[in-house]
Amino acid sequence: MDNMTSAARERCLTFALGKGRLAQKAMELFGQLGIDCREMEDKSSRKLIFADEEKRLRFFLAKGPDVPTYVEYGAADIGVVGRDTILEENRNVYEVLDLGFGKCRMCVCGPASAGELLRHHERIRVATKYPVIARNYFFHQKHQTVDIIKLNGSVELGPLVELSDVIVDIVETGSTLRENGLEVLEEVCPLSARLIVNPVSMQMERERIGALVNGIRALLRNQDEKNRAG
Ligand code: PRP
Repeated sequence: MDNMTSAARERCLTFALGKGRLAQKAMELFGQLGIDCREMEDKSSRKLIFADEEKRLRFFLAKGPDVPTYVEYGAADIGVVGRDTILEENRNVYEVLDLGFGKCRMCVCGPASAGELLRHHERIRVATKYPVIARNYFFHQKHQTVDIIKLNGSVELGPLVELSDVIVDIVETGSTLRENGLEVLEEVCPLSARLIVNPVSMQMERERIGALVNGIRALLRNQDEKNRAG
């Protein structure tokens, strides 16, 4: 079989990218590997799936929490998503690479006065968009019994309107906390964007996925060295 025929028969590798900044950063990274997806840069487009036909790659944008779902079911071979989402969704996927961008922290935050409640393992109320992460942290790591209240956003409101004593949420610059008189009380874990892979794809497409992962890893290492030198 000549190269043309084998290339034509090669199946497309599909990527699910978490909509927004993560997807943009991921495409910048892939662009440096010669993966072309200029179509995706057209902000006015409502198109959901984009392809680099020559390299037999497809990309689609999804809500962050849905990315591990697409990857677990094999609707996407590869996903780019925050570690917070991986921990919260707890799907059967391989986490293969820390992409180094989207760095932030999952923290327990609240007014300074709530520090005492945490130290004494009081039965407090915890508002969060991440009930699984909060439960694992308080129940399994700290062995502290708490009441977890699920919210869908603007979680900092919790302590401000006395819905909860503290929150478990993402802290990036810390400005949301500062502007609302709250602070970091405990750090749960560091976060960043990760590359995840469907376990079957990992076996069936070992060579292509392996080459891609190695390419990204080498690129990240070069960037790191440059940053350190500069
Ligand atoms: C996230 C997070 C914090 C904020 C942290 O919220 O939940 O509220 O960003 O960033 P900072 O430390 O740089 O201020 P997001 O903007 O995603 O909206 P949400 O509150 O609706 O979840």
